[in-house]
Amino acid sequence: MSDKIAVIGGGNLGKSIAEGLLKSAFTTPDRIIVTRRNLHLLTDLKDKGVIVTSDNLDAVRQARTIILAVKPYNVKEILTQLSPVLSEKDHILISVVTGVWIEELLQAAGKPMALFRAMPNTAVSIQQSITCLSHVHASPSQLAYVQSIFDTVGKTVIIDEKLMDAATVLGACGIAYALRFIRANIQGGIEIGFDAQTASLIAAQTVKGAAELLIQTGRHPEQEIDKVTTPKGCTIAGLNEMEHQGFSSSLIKGITASYVKILKP
Ligand SMILES: NC(=O)c1ccc[n+]([C@@H]2O[C@H](COP(=O)([O-])OP(=O)(O)OC[C@H]3O[C@@H](n4cnc5c(N)ncnc54)[C@H](OP(=O)(O)O)[C@@H]3O)[C@@H](O)[C@H]2O)c1
Repeated sequence: MSDKIAVIGGGNLGKSIAEGLLKSAFTTPDRIIVTRRNLHLLTDLKDKGVIVTSDNLDAVRQARTIILAVKPYNVKEILTQLSPVLSEKDHILISVVTGVWIEELLQAAGKPMALFRAMPNTAVSIQQSITCLSHVHASPSQLAYVQSIFDTVGKTVIIDEKLMDAATVLGACGIAYALRFIRANIQGGIEIGFDAQTASLIAAQTVKGAAELLIQTGRHPEQEIDKVTTPKGCTIAGLNEMEHQGFSSSLIKGITASYVKILKP
């Protein structure tokens, strides 16, 4: 069995993962196979030397690691087709499909193989995702290997599968919450004098800087907030007004509303 990686479903996410693997030089293009039915949409990957095909069975036969990146309604049919060529001894199966549980994936695969569920977010396309991972039947070396795949497109965290819905809300929906926060900053910035383009740059770079402060130092947000809140100053006046208007409360309620929706669609 070769060390090739097969991405079954070269759409937005599947392609982004393949591109992340290439950009980080995790592997060589000829060791990545990407499949989809509309092959002309994979021409850019093909031009980079990636193997592109519509033959899922052949892709799985050639590879050791299978990344399943199709829509949830395609999973059962595709895994059932792949089952005869999936080997519990040789293959690692990684599903990035939202809402399909490990138990269902194992059942469709038809064997107790090393299986991972991964939840990245759309920042995967610029190698800045957070990817939550759960797994069964995986050895420590298989876990380290899969983690290193997703480290090529951002950061990874291992979670219990029962937290996968919560991970979807905080990590995947979280991109939209953060963007809406930035949009509101832009609107406020225009009202206090900036043109839209300058306000967008200041708002986005400021949020990026705030996030990096936490990621790089490991500090709590309130420690960094203390540094910019001068007694009787403008920052604390603005922050307290936001809280009076329900800022933190509305965010927490939004997160729990998304969670309730994911549990009972
Ligand atoms: N986008 C994200 O950031 C994100 C984040 C977390 C999780 N997810 C999950 O990841 C999965 C993929 O999302 P996406 O946004 O990448 O969707 P997408 O762009 O629609 O990609 C799915 C791909 O699967 C291909 N496909 C369908 N049937 C196939 C088959 N029989 N054999 C091979 N390929 C087949 C489709 O191409 P053809 O029609 O040409 O075959 C399509 O390119 C979803 O389950 C989604 O919930 C996505």
